[in-house]
Amino acid sequence: MSQQLTIRRPDDWHLHLRDGAMMEGVLPASRDVARAIIMPNLVPPVVTGEQAAAYRDRILAALPEGQDFTPLMTLYLTEDTSPDDVAAAHASGLVKAVKLYPAGATTNSASGVKNISAVMPVLERMAEIGLSLCVHGEVTDADVDIFDREAVYIDRVLAPLRRNLPELKITMEHVTTSDGVDFIKDGAENIAGTFTVQHLVLNRNDMLVGGIRPHFYCLPILKRMDHQKALRAAATSGDPRFFNGTDSAPHATHTKENACGCAGVFSAPVAVAWIAQVFEEENALDRLEGFLSLNGPKHYGMPVNEDRITLSRSDKPVPFPAAVETGAGPVTVFDPGLPLYWKIND
Ligand code: DOR
Ligand code: ZN
Repeated sequence: MSQQLTIRRPDDWHLHLRDGAMMEGVLPASRDVARAIIMPNLVPPVVTGEQAAAYRDRILAALPEGQDFTPLMTLYLTEDTSPDDVAAAHASGLVKAVKLYPAGATTNSASGVKNISAVMPVLERMAEIGLSLCVHGEVTDADVDIFDREAVYIDRVLAPLRRNLPELKITMEHVTTSDGVDFIKDGAENIAGTFTVQHLVLNRNDMLVGGIRPHFYCLPILKRMDHQKALRAAATSGDPRFFNGTDSAPHATHTKENACGCAGVFSAPVAVAWIAQVFEEENALDRLEGFLSLNGPKHYGMPVNEDRITLSRSDKPVPFPAAVETGAGPVTVFDPGLPLYWKIND
């Protein structure tokens, strides 16, 4: 059953490119998307407008000839972030969102937010000027089980924040639970959620049964199958508040295949193809364009892409590279161990 599908060119509303040799190595893997929200969790983090401008210039300088890609820059929110700097970076058109990492929640989040009340002046200014907040929604309290971190964050932080500042536009990133899906569905138009490829394709059994698979380890961690089903239903529902944010997060292979492996799944090379496959499995190919190419720009108040891509579904599994070579070492490409039937035409 071969098939072709032409849609507006997708975007990725959550992408890690890193810096230096790693960035140069992974940038070509984002060729299927026109734009991406670029995560600021570098070492040191991208905290000021000036740092974001310099990082954008490094990304553009590292882009391969002919790759049409626009980085949408973000600022890393700290308890010292200045509302004026954020407003200026937004007014200049440079910064499209501010990222909230709870301190200690994930890779390079040590400078993140410990106490949400300390950043309220920044959030209030963002609400005034219409700048989006991207949230890594997990508590870090040692007494909260890692599988419950998202649900507890909703109760303790996100729900009160919504009540106190309903005008703030929020993207709840990498939603991994039915609690997250329900929170967005029950919310207003200005709260949206993104899903990663791995959370749509896998659940925690895939990571832990029959051997531990470090390349499926990311944060928020994969959840149980019921949650996976809720994410797939939401992603394919046609609700415009759900869209693509891969959280493609490259780490050199040896740092993941390690006694203390890094969190992050490098899905960029295959993300669009895997999402097409999920939508086919859910009989929702007519909604694929919304998820990949329309709902994100709508939430961020940006135009949709004018160019198109064509996806092909073949009868036989489509091969893809096991790893991408970078100057910082090889990076293993997301491979759920299932046949992939979709590809993006050149
Ligand atoms: O698994 C993850 N990896 N989750 C994050 O939130 C950060 C990311 C990274 O930067 O490696
Ligand atoms: Zn991320």
